[in-house]
Amino acid sequence: MRVAMIGTGYVGLVSGACFADFGHTVCCIDKDADKIERLRAGVMPIYEPGLDLLVAKNVREGRLSFATTAAEAVRNADAVFIAVGTPSRRGDGHADLSYVHAAAEEIAGFMDGFTVVVTKSTVPIGTGDEIEAIIRRVRPDADCAVVSNPEFLREGAAIADFKHPDRVVVGTEDERAREVMRELYRPLFLNETPILFTGRRSSELTKYAANAFLAMKITFINEVADLCEALGADVQQVARGIGLDNRIGSKFLHAGPGYGGSCFPKDALALVRTAADADSPIDLVETTIRVNDQRKKAMARKVATAMGGELAGKRIGVLGLTFKPNTDDMRDAPSLDIIPALQALGAEVQAFDPEGLHEARTLLSEVAFKDGPYEAIEGVDAVVILTEWDQFRALDLDRMKLLMRRPVMVDLRNVYRPEDVRAHGFAYTSIGRP
Ligand SMILES: NC(=O)c1ccc[n+]([C@@H]2O[C@H](COP(=O)([O-])OP(=O)(O)OC[C@H]3O[C@@H](n4cnc5c(N)ncnc54)[C@H](O)[C@@H]3O)[C@@H](O)[C@H]2O)c1
Repeated sequence: MRVAMIGTGYVGLVSGACFADFGHTVCCIDKDADKIERLRAGVMPIYEPGLDLLVAKNVREGRLSFATTAAEAVRNADAVFIAVGTPSRRGDGHADLSYVHAAAEEIAGFMDGFTVVVTKSTVPIGTGDEIEAIIRRVRPDADCAVVSNPEFLREGAAIADFKHPDRVVVGTEDERAREVMRELYRPLFLNETPILFTGRRSSELTKYAANAFLAMKITFINEVADLCEALGADVQQVARGIGLDNRIGSKFLHAGPGYGGSCFPKDALALVRTAADADSPIDLVETTIRVNDQRKKAMARKVATAMGGELAGKRIGVLGLTFKPNTDDMRDAPSLDIIPALQALGAEVQAFDPEGLHEARTLLSEVAFKDGPYEAIEGVDAVVILTEWDQFRALDLDRMKLLMRRPVMVDLRNVYRPEDVRAHGFAYTSIGRP
């Protein structure tokens, strides 16, 4: 199959490289010329483990190319994927569809022969209808089908997720389009991945419902963690106890500082807005958003409490800035709420992240960025673990104690065992554990 991928970001680049690795011929298109130039030079614009090797291999073998304009790739394509951003619209929290609409308009101008237009971006229910209307307006003669195919990959494990997904959801009633989609994902049939064909609107809603559910699950265990703290229970024991029940499942039951990232916050909000417009409010998700927002602010107070209640004039070393490990993505990372809240309480912050520093510099002010974890804790009154990068899991606690002004650790990811850290003479606070 010949594939054009419009938008070469976290989703488009991974999807494009993986489709090429399945044996298809893929052109990844992005209007960001700098990004395309770097990709052509073999430099990855994002950090995603294994992506550089996968891209290099498929470029070398002639299945993957990059372009700044859609014309040629779309003309030749069996399937054109829309994988552009759908950020929260300023002011009202609805998904901003301007990039999707622009991409549809552009595609329509170039398509030739039967073309399947596949929406991979996360888009509100009914967007497929809008894309179809745009194409019909620009090219009344076009022979095309508009399909919804939401992406469920996780940053940091994106390649494995794309190649071994729990399921693929394809929303279309068009039999010719189904055939193209079956062919595109054929390698996954061999692994017996469930490919779920649904109506287009059901597919669009499936993505939002999945993300909102996961955000809710995280928020649930976070509230249970608070209760554990109040009652002297251990959230990790409770999470294991409930997670072994197959009806609940053990994933996404790790208590922490509140969810963030490029998807959950914006998608939960967009679902709430869509539901309100449809006069069918989705209260559980609204509450989830409110509880999560409050939680991130509460984390600064938790740090203050661990340091005796007063942050004025104190120096804090923060380890981890990205919203999760193994990515450089800083979009809506909890650090962007928690660090300013610490500063507002009077603390000075120094910080280190293995991949997020470049982006963090543009988003956080008055932070002293350091080159390594030990540099980030030199002379501090407390260390705060904010993202559970592997390299923070086995820090040399004795060395840390010598470097720090006071041995206080606030572990917002429950990376360490309380008794181990305390045995090294630290005052140790974590989430939902005595
Ligand atoms: N990041 C994730 O983990 C993830 C997971 C599942 C779904 N999604 C969804 O996938 C979509 C893309 O997310 P992302 O994180 O990859 O975004 P991104 O911001 O990393 O990438 C989007 C890219 O599209 C490009 N672009 C925008 N308009 C264009 C146009 N008209 N022509 C060519 N290129 C254009 C931008 O320059 C940018 O490089 C979003 O809807 C998101 O919600 C993201």
